Amino acid sequence: MTATTAITVRVPAKVNLQLAVGPAREDGYHDLVNVFHAVALFDEVTVREPRPRAELPLVGLSVSGDLGPHLARVPLDATNLAARAARLVARETASATPVELHLHKRIPVAGGMAGGSADAAGALVACNTFWSAGLSDGDLLALAAELGSDVAFPLVGGTAVGTGRGEVLTPADSPGRYHWVFALAEGGLSTPDVFGEYDRLRPGAPEPAGDPELMAALAAGDAARLGAALSNDLERAALSLRPDLAGVLAAGRAAGALGAIVSGSGPTCAFLAASAAEAAEIAAALDASGRCAATVTTQGHADGARVVDPAED
Ligand code: C5P
Repeated sequence: MTATTAITVRVPAKVNLQLAVGPAREDGYHDLVNVFHAVALFDEVTVREPRPRAELPLVGLSVSGDLGPHLARVPLDATNLAARAARLVARETASATPVELHLHKRIPVAGGMAGGSADAAGALVACNTFWSAGLSDGDLLALAAELGSDVAFPLVGGTAVGTGRGEVLTPADSPGRYHWVFALAEGGLSTPDVFGEYDRLRPGAPEPAGDPELMAALAAGDAARLGAALSNDLERAALSLRPDLAGVLAAGRAAGALGAIVSGSGPTCAFLAASAAEAAEIAAALDASGRCAATVTTQGHADGARVVDPAED
């Protein structure tokens, strides 16, 4: 048997179908009811042996992709969430050797689609496999929760309801397939800043509650009902920090979207379409409006983090 030279894991972006946000907790977090939906927009996380060098860090890091200047916003030091994920796996196994971690990015950076969290989830799976660390799915979910509120979901994918600060996941009954358009923005939004603006705009928010109509629409696989039920408590805060997003949402609605919403803490906007053809029309209208930097059309739900079979390449 030859030694494994590289492991690549494909990991999805998410959109929140419902994001209900409670009041700030003592630890600074907010209790959420967070309906996560994975979409077929994937980053790839590759772990390989580093080239021999005089000084080898435990985890080296590099990044590539077509995101232009946005890529420069991915931190390449020890603070990177994927590098932290790799070090957490190393903590759990005696077999960790130095590795080079490479992130091939398609998910917008600081865009409200949990790209950094997806990369961390990918690094957990890739390092567990590369080092034959033997961690179970449950172990990986626990490490994910240690890393951040949105890291557990990309491990499982599909559609799931997150409670607590978002990391306690329950799979949702969601047999449907949906067509999405994402309008990417220039620049990003900081998640803590958006939660801070939420607290300022909405002191004394009630405890978050799930929306039975949204769950019924998901169970029925009814795109029109789902579009009407999409909701995001952070949207007002994101629009307060980025007023230009209101025009993006309006342009997508005018082009026939079944629902339009800021994705997570933004600034990416998400539009649900009735079909692939409608999605292409909405994307074309958004592109022509000049109100966003780029558009992506894709489908949901998508699988969670998966090792890519080299034969698929
Ligand atoms: O958990 P994560 O590190 O992804 O969270 C980033 C920031 O988002 C937190 O520092 C906090 O400001 C905010 N947040 C929150 N409540 C949550 C999740 C995130 O206030 N449930």
